[in-house]
Amino acid sequence: MRFHRKSADLTPLADISFATAARARHDREVNGDLVVQASIGTLCDDQQKIIAFPSVYEHFDAMAARSKARYAESFTGNASFREAVAAWVLEDHVRTLHRTVIATPGGTGALWAAMNTFLDPGETVILPGIAWNSYAAMAGHNGLRIRTYEMFADEHFNFASLRQAMTDVSRRQDRVVFLLNTPCNNPTGYSLSDGEWDILIDLVNEVSETCPVVMIVDVAYFDFVNDPAARSSFCRHLDRISDSVMVNILFSISKTMTAYGMRCGASILLARRQEDVRNIEIILEKTARLTWSNVNNAAMECFAWAVTADRDTLKEEIQAGVSLLKERSEIFLQEAAECGLELYPYREGFFCTLKYEDPAFAAEMFRALMDNHIYTVRVNGGIRIALCSLPKAQAAGLARRIRTVQDQLAAER
Ligand SMILES: Cc1ncc(COP(=O)(O)O)c(C=O)c1O
Repeated sequence: MRFHRKSADLTPLADISFATAARARHDREVNGDLVVQASIGTLCDDQQKIIAFPSVYEHFDAMAARSKARYAESFTGNASFREAVAAWVLEDHVRTLHRTVIATPGGTGALWAAMNTFLDPGETVILPGIAWNSYAAMAGHNGLRIRTYEMFADEHFNFASLRQAMTDVSRRQDRVVFLLNTPCNNPTGYSLSDGEWDILIDLVNEVSETCPVVMIVDVAYFDFVNDPAARSSFCRHLDRISDSVMVNILFSISKTMTAYGMRCGASILLARRQEDVRNIEIILEKTARLTWSNVNNAAMECFAWAVTADRDTLKEEIQAGVSLLKERSEIFLQEAAECGLELYPYREGFFCTLKYEDPAFAAEMFRALMDNHIYTVRVNGGIRIALCSLPKAQAAGLARRIRTVQDQLAAER
């Protein structure tokens, strides 16, 4: 006898990062400063307390109770929020495309909508080989097959691998859907350069001559690029897409406003033809109505206010976060280079990743690090270090400790 649908996946959800955090807390109680907690994925200060931008939360606290109580204006989100998201993300770069913005419960909601909209069950979505775990999990949950591309060729984005994946998939289905997470990639910290964006758009346009292409760009961490003037510069390239390309940008206020718990984000759709954008908008409006209904009204109002009325303060607060990330990454990366610890190319952002391509060795390293009081997150192809929450005092000396564990493990094998 069973009470659930036949196709349900009964494998328990193992969110290793929450489990690791719990073990690290216990270890800290016993071993104090010996413990390095590098697994927390939220922006924290050097006391490892979550940062809550004052401008955001002072305004939120002052908001009328009725604003917090009421439903959103519509299933697609409040007009002021939708406009504010378009202006914040696209700035005035995208001039020739039709667009719409749909409010979603976080970037996760936008991702869910993407995995549920562009492909039918049994079809294949193309994902980066090193990635946030939710992409593959959500694809699987929506009955999609996965084809991965290698993210790197040496120190740069691997266009040959992406091209191969797109070509193979285009031979088997009548749409190619692929995802990339840039800038400030989770977990590597890679950001496509301007030149790489040029190559990417050329590739996408070329594939679109034989098969329509949907390019999903997850920009969850884009506000934390080192050069604030460059954060939306990738959008400049989007005006070059062909008629047969759609761009779906996944946006989240979780990182931009340090508002992880407010569960608010957006799906931005861009294409050359109004009809194509409208068709997806209709689908996403129904997805919203029939799943989450509508998005947190207070979160939307707070974002619209923060990026218009008090934009400069929000930008300053974000910049303070960027400075923290820079200081921590400089310490860790410099020491890693000095002791020969190999990382994937890091440019900026919340995370960097140690390169362990052998999954068995990576698994052993992950456990051995915990045995040595160092808490990280295992990802495909390596081990993620959360610079976003790593106090500077703990960043110093960490690379050498990891190198020692790595050498001991390699010697024992
Ligand atoms: C790469 C990436 N995209 C999107 C998200 C979605 O975040 P949220 O659902 O909190 O907006 C996350 C969260 O960790 C992430 O790491």
